[in-house]
Amino acid sequence: MPAPLNVIIIGAGLAGLLSARVLREHHHVTVLERLSGSHELGAGINISPAGNRILEEFGFDQERAKSIVACRSKIFDRHHNIVQELDMTDLVAAAGSEWRLNHRGNLWVELHRLATAPSEELGISGSPAKIFWEVDVVDVDVEAGRVRLQDGTELHGDLIVGADGIRSMVRPLVVGDLAFQSARPSGASAFRFTLPAKAVREAVGEIRQMDGQEPSELNLHLALDDTSRSIVTYPCRGFELLNCVCIAPDSLIRAEVTESWSAKGRLEDLLETFGDFGTFCQSLLKQAENIKLWQLRDQDPLPTYIKGRTVLVGDAAHAMTPHQAQGGTQAMEDAEAFRLFNQEGVSRDSVPSILKDFDRVRRPRASMIQNTSRQSLDRRTAGSVYKNVLYNWVYPGVFECLRRLDAGEEMVQIPEIKLEVELK
Ligand SMILES: Cc1cc2nc3c(=O)[nH]c(=O)nc-3n(C[C@H](O)[C@H](O)[C@H](O)COP(=O)(O)OP(=O)(O)OC[C@H]3O[C@@H](n4cnc5c(N)ncnc54)[C@H](O)[C@@H]3O)c2cc1C
Ligand SMILES: *[C@@H]1O[C@H](CO)[C@@H](O)[C@H](O)[C@H]1NC(C)=O
Repeated sequence: MPAPLNVIIIGAGLAGLLSARVLREHHHVTVLERLSGSHELGAGINISPAGNRILEEFGFDQERAKSIVACRSKIFDRHHNIVQELDMTDLVAAAGSEWRLNHRGNLWVELHRLATAPSEELGISGSPAKIFWEVDVVDVDVEAGRVRLQDGTELHGDLIVGADGIRSMVRPLVVGDLAFQSARPSGASAFRFTLPAKAVREAVGEIRQMDGQEPSELNLHLALDDTSRSIVTYPCRGFELLNCVCIAPDSLIRAEVTESWSAKGRLEDLLETFGDFGTFCQSLLKQAENIKLWQLRDQDPLPTYIKGRTVLVGDAAHAMTPHQAQGGTQAMEDAEAFRLFNQEGVSRDSVPSILKDFDRVRRPRASMIQNTSRQSLDRRTAGSVYKNVLYNWVYPGVFECLRRLDAGEEMVQIPEIKLEVELK
């Protein structure tokens, strides 16, 4: 057994909580969170097979999270004519787990349980992570492992995990360059909302997505023109809700979102931006309430995720646009890499060298996905949507990646699979 380290995790988002779950088995884990509990929005998140395999290996209860299995994706034009259908069954089998549609709130609650429930309940060793809420970290000495809070308190850790999201304060300290302080606007924004099953039925009648049958499907309606507008829909929270994400270039959205990044969206703006979409889409959009408008931002890949005894994970390390739905899944792959610390021979002194292996695996992988997510902003054709899915969905975990790197092999081996279904 490794000697327990004192681990300080900054941020209790998806990345911080799953990292806490992985590390609590052998180490003393403290999580520091600025907010007072869950702030996950009422919105969906789909997790790729690589992410679900990791979640399940660490005891994630998909039923508790009311998660839904998916295996198909249909792409329609603006007028609800199908232009492409993909069947992910073979890819999911190759990736070794399922593709799943979740509600962010439910996902967060289950991750919180994995980080904090008694070890007997989870059937694991170690003790629960301690989470301190409403604690604002203002400075980190990344080499010494010292964390300063707003009230002046100082905490000392052997390993510091910067899981503090897209506006990370740890990121510039690790990279050593203030240029990495803020993520840049991608030029597109997203209207997000969920529709209750009843509202969907009233708007468009009974549809396959909401019929309660698993595997379900994730659908897109595309403008198929130079604007790359898209409407993504999928069920979540056990078919109680239909998650809707409507992405458009900033230039076509009347509201101003630049300052706050995220704002309340107005129905009239949504309807105007997608005014040329047909009756099916219009009927759905008209039902929207509590719309959020997100300016989508991303980062250039970082030159490093590590410095001294500090490491970046999740959006702090690799903020990306949601076009490939990979942000959450990449956070899960990061957390899995903390298995490196659950081996023999781990001590305070060995933390910096173990982090080198973390960086060697995680940074090329997540950087590639950041780059291809940025390229996916261009969604003018149906074929562009799942262009990189074979790479994105398959990931063998940190130990196998290290083995392949040391053997001079490709870290991620892309399966040869045909996804497209013949349309009649
Ligand atoms: C519109 C949209 C749709 C998306 N859809 C998908 C999808 O379908 N699939 C997918 O995989 N991903 C998706 N993502 C990406 C995914 O949501 C993110 O990658 C993921 O939530 C990042 O988690 P995180 O824990 O790294 O960051 P966060 O969830 O941002 O957590 C960071 C935490 O750190 C705390 N914090 C920050 N600073 C401090 C401080 N100084 N002191 C203390 N605490 C601090 C914050 O309060 C926060 O709780 C989407 C993103 C967007 C914007
Ligand atoms: C990502 O894109 C940048 C800029 O084009 C490039 O320098 C970098 O090598 C790319 N990284 C990966 C992993 O593809």
